[in-house]
Amino acid sequence: MGNGTCTSRQGLENMLSRAQGSHDLTRGEIVNLLALTDSCEVEALYVAADRVRREHVGDDIFLRGIIEFSSHCRNNCLYCGLRRDNTGLERYRIPDDEIVDLARSMEREGCTTVVLQSGEDPFYTRDRMCAIISRIKGETSLAVTLSLGERTFEDYRAFRLSGADRYLLRHESASRPLYASLCPGRTLDDRIRCLEWLRELGYETGSGFMVGLPGQTVEDLADDVILIRELGADMVGIGPFIPHAQTPLGAHPAGDVNLVLKTVAVVRMVTRDANIPATTALGVLDKQSRKRAFHAGANVYMPVFTPQSYAKDYEIYPGKGLVSSDARKSLDAYREFFSSMGRPVGRGKGGRPGFQEKGTVCEKKTVG
Ligand code: 5AD
Ligand code: SF4
Repeated sequence: MGNGTCTSRQGLENMLSRAQGSHDLTRGEIVNLLALTDSCEVEALYVAADRVRREHVGDDIFLRGIIEFSSHCRNNCLYCGLRRDNTGLERYRIPDDEIVDLARSMEREGCTTVVLQSGEDPFYTRDRMCAIISRIKGETSLAVTLSLGERTFEDYRAFRLSGADRYLLRHESASRPLYASLCPGRTLDDRIRCLEWLRELGYETGSGFMVGLPGQTVEDLADDVILIRELGADMVGIGPFIPHAQTPLGAHPAGDVNLVLKTVAVVRMVTRDANIPATTALGVLDKQSRKRAFHAGANVYMPVFTPQSYAKDYEIYPGKGLVSSDARKSLDAYREFFSSMGRPVGRGKGGRPGFQEKGTVCEKKTVG
């Protein structure tokens, strides 16, 4: 990126350099950054975000291997191929032993974190999930990240006591009307309460949102960025909306990859040291964009370790299953790409540098 001939406007440079320091971007400034169209100005935003990334989280890129262990979901999000009303999908659950084996294999491939992801599947009771987490913690040295959707406080607490380190729960959209229309029977307030519980329990907590949802404005996106800041999210996943034909939103256009990249950059400016992946969805729309995300603030890559026989049916959006098989095979290609950028693969667990555990879960453990 960067052709060396750009001279971006002084006002923008000033705003970006203040934001690199102690200035917290205002909503108006965030809207202006997301609305940039001039390629030199957009480039200046990426350069600033890349500088903030280097200063606060360094050059390392961390690998988090994902296992999508169940495609069953009790919810009916209008955008998602796993929604319960999509009867055209083969559903699967990966047997517990196989999940643990996959975790072991990703450790051998250099991952330091396993992400256990599923739809909201009540088959995985508190006890069953705790047993899987304990086995992985006992048999590997991986950090365990969960991405299981909304659960009770007691579930989250039990998972934490079994050794889970981190939890991903995207807020999806900070616009209340948009959230209500896209997630039937659920509310943004419930989602935020879950995120607060997770923080209270000492999880490193990830949120995130989609870009390009039908009806979403740049102002809505600015509110997403501000909610990320208010939540103090330790990890932030940002991907384009991709229409899935077997959902009510099948006819809507996909999100704009350039807007996703600008959003990644702005979120880097705002959070400074959060962990930000270059998301799979970005790669589905455009492989180059996923790589470009590493020049615009991203520092995490999440290879999919779900075996292909299952992954083909984890069709949140079209193309996901294909990328999954590709992602595992192309881990080496990504390593080469990272080293061509002078970015080593991180050897540690890659937690958020500024993360401070509140520790309430342990206090509760000794009391109760
Ligand atoms: N396009 C892109 N991302 C999607 N997600 C769900 N459906 C889609 C879609 N059609 C995202 C949501 C969810 C994550 C697992 O995948 O943000 O939290
Ligand atoms: Fe289920 Fe998550 Fe898909 Fe919603 S986005 S239908 S909760 S898997």
